[in-house]
Formats: sequence, C-alpha cells, structure tokens
Amino acid sequence: GLKKKEINVLCIGLDNSGKTTIINKLKPEKTQAQDIVPTVGFTVEKFISQSLNFTVFDMSGSGRYRNLWEHYYKTAQAVIFVLDSSDKLRMVVAKEELDMLLQHPEITQRRVPILVFANKMDLKDSLSPVQCSNKMGLHDLTNKPWHICASNGLTGEGLNDGVDWLTDQIR
Ligand code: GTP
Ligand code: MG
Repeated sequence: GLKKKEINVLCIGLDNSGKTTIINKLKPEKTQAQDIVPTVGFTVEKFISQSLNFTVFDMSGSGRYRNLWEHYYKTAQAVIFVLDSSDKLRMVVAKEELDMLLQHPEITQRRVPILVFANKMDLKDSLSPVQCSNKMGLHDLTNKPWHICASNGLTGEGLNDGVDWLTDQIR
C-alpha cells in the first residue's frame, strides 16, 4: 500500500500542562502508558493519523530543561504547544516561552504550523480557547498557520480536532 508521510512534531509548553498525557492518548491503546510522570529531558513518541506517521519530541516543560527545546526547532515540521487553561498565573510565562519559539531564526524562516491545545478544559475555572488566545496574543501571529482547540488529555476530548487540523496543514 501507499506509505504514509513522515512528520516530525515538537511538543512544548510549561510543566504540568498535560503534554505527555495528550501524546500518550494519541498512541494506540495497547501501547499507552498507565502512569504518567513528569518528563525528564524529553521522550520520543510515535502515533499515526489517517495519512501521517507522527514522530513527536515530547519535551519536559520544567524550567531546568526548557533550554533543550531550541535544539529541536530545526527538525520540527510542526509544533504542538500545550497550555494548562486553568493556570492563569503562569499564562504569561507560557506566552514568553511561545514568543521565544516564534522569534527563533529556525522558526521565523520556515512555514511551521502551530497547534495550541487549551488543555484541562474539564477544570471549573479553565479559560476558553478564545480567552487563551487573547492572553497568548495569538491574533498577532499572522505569519504562521495556527489553531487553538480546547482539550481534555485525560479523556481525549478535542484531540482529534487538533490532529485533523495539523494533518491538513501538512498534506
Ligand atoms: P512535564 O513533563 O513536567 O513538562 O509535564 P506535562 O506537560 O507532560 O504534563 P503531564 O502530561 O505529566 O500532566 C500533568 C498533570 O496534569 C497530570 O496529573 C495529568 O493527569 C494532568 N492532566 C493532563 N491533562 C489533563 C486534563 O485535560 N484535565 C485534567 N484535569 N488534568 C489533566
Ligand atoms: Mg511530560
């Protein structure tokens, strides 16, 4: 049959935003981990969508490892940025980190689609995707394709919306 296209994706965002939980949920059920612990450094994970084979670099969001992110900008064909939509206090830190990515030469010079998950939508005081995009200044981002969707990493709600958008961006 036809071989699926390979795509390298960088998954970043602050610690505890739910990156590993989301990536785990996108993997085939049999290969999903049962317990998820804070990522040390990064891990490489694979999952498939209808037409793509995804290789995801799931980075640690902890302050002591964030300096690793930029080493993987070069090979990233797309970025998944995960927000904890209930963590209003650290949204400004998340914005700083996103802005660093967007200002990096490896990113400014290429067409890199940015998918943002407004994760933890199930929590009572979580911000909506519109509120998150306002806080993150996403509307100023006019030179990159971007998309934000609400997600629940625990149930998987909203993940397909995001992956479908990403898949469309690559075809
Ligand atoms: P680092 O690896 O430290 O950067 O964190 P991470 O972004 O990979 O977060 P991780 O996936 O380890 O999840 C952190 C915590 O958030 C865990 O306790 C998850 O169960 C929880 N979590 C993830 N997604 C959701 C969600 O959508 N809703 C709720 N309520 N909790 C979530
Ligand atoms: Mg993690």
